[in-house]
This record gives sequence, structure tokens and C-alpha cells, in this order.
Amino acid sequence: MNFHPFSTLQTERLNLRKTSMKDLEDILFLRSDPTVNKYIDRSPAQKLKDAEDFFNKISKGFDEGKNINWTITYKDNDKMIGSICLWNFSEDEKIGEVGYDLKPEFQGQGIMTEALKAILNFGFEQLKLEKIEAYTHHQNESSKRLLVKNNFKIIKGKIDEYNSNNIVFQCESFHVT
Ligand SMILES: CC(C)(COP(=O)(O)OP(=O)(O)OC[C@H]1O[C@@H](n2cnc3c(N)ncnc32)[C@H](O)[C@@H]1OP(=O)(O)O)[C@@H](O)C(=O)NCCC(=O)NCCS
Repeated sequence: MNFHPFSTLQTERLNLRKTSMKDLEDILFLRSDPTVNKYIDRSPAQKLKDAEDFFNKISKGFDEGKNINWTITYKDNDKMIGSICLWNFSEDEKIGEVGYDLKPEFQGQGIMTEALKAILNFGFEQLKLEKIEAYTHHQNESSKRLLVKNNFKIIKGKIDEYNSNNIVFQCESFHVT
């Protein structure tokens, strides 16, 4: 994949911009807060250096065409409130995976619904993906609801070989509304 130049996206309320070093404190929060991470299978960040390592990893991945990560902010306030990314692309570049998280005080207000719609459009229209997958814990009700509302369907029989608690969803390009 070639993501250059970075595509900043806007929705009604949100600005989806490139993640930057100024987001490190917020990345640390998002990757360590127990509420945000309740259903996410990753070792929690402990210190700012962990956030910086993650930032360096996604920056390198962006340059290599392996992942594209957006910082979610409100349009009138540049502070990071969450993130959304496309990554884990298939070798033929037709399938990608979406990942997302949001600080607790911003959840339940339709923010990720807005961000996800923009990223699905970008993935299908700009990257020409045919399918976008999402792996989510079977008890993560808000995430499952978010996916179902956005026309993701469970891929029957597909399992996450790394985490048996996850179910795998996919959205096909002609389903974007
Ligand atoms: C999953 C997450 C991104 C959802 O973002 P959000 O902005 O709160 O989602 P929305 O407000 O757009 O809500 C999506 C739907 O889920 C519903 N919902 C929200 N919280 C819910 C909850 N706790 N239980 C059940 N449904 C819930 C909403 O009502 C909405 O459905 P509706 O429009 O039919 O009412 C957010 O909860 C989050 O960051 N969770 C922690 C990180 C995480 O688990 N990421 C997913 C990893 S796979």
C-alpha cells in the first residue's frame, strides 16, 4: 500500500488527522486505561516510552504501507480523544482490518460511528479494498453494535487463532451507506 501523502479526513464533528508526537500522553492513556482496554488483548502501556515505541512502530508501518492510523479529535479542539486505524492488509491488498478506541468520557455519543463511516469510505474508495475485517471480543457490546450498525457481518466459522474470545466481522464494499 502507498498511503502518501497522509489523508486527513473530516466528518460532521470530527477531524481525523495523522498521529503525532504531541499525542503521546493520550496514546499512553488509551493503551493503559482499564476501561478502554477491558476487551482488548494487548499488554497495557506502563510509561511514556511505551507510547513512544508504539508511535515509532506505527510511523514506520505507515512509511512501509503496512498501517494507517488516525488520531480522532473534535474539529474545534486538537486534543486526541481516540484513534482508528486500518492495518493487517492481505498480500493482495484487497482485505484490511480496522481497529479503534475512544476515551471513556467520549463513548456512547456516536463518535466512533462517525469516524468508522469515514474510514470505511476511505478504505473502499481510496485504497480500493474489497473487504474490511474487525476482530472484537464476544462480550464487547458497544463494539459489536458499532460494527453491526455499519453493515459488518460475522464471518461464520472464522476464528481468531490468537484469541478465542474474539469474533470476526467483515464489511464488503457494496454495503457502505
Ligand atoms: C467500541 C467503541 C469504540 C464504540 O465507540 P462509541 O463512540 O462509544 O460508539 P457509538 O457511540 O458510535 O455507539 C455505537 C453503538 O453502540 C451502542 N453502545 C454504546 N455503548 C454501549 C454499551 N455499553 N452496550 C451496548 N451498546 C452500546 C450505541 O448505543 C450505538 O448503537 P445505537 O446507535 O443503535 O444506539 C468504544 O466503546 C471504545 O472505545 N471502547 C473501548 C475500546 C474498544 O473496545 N475497542 C474495540 C476493540 S475491537
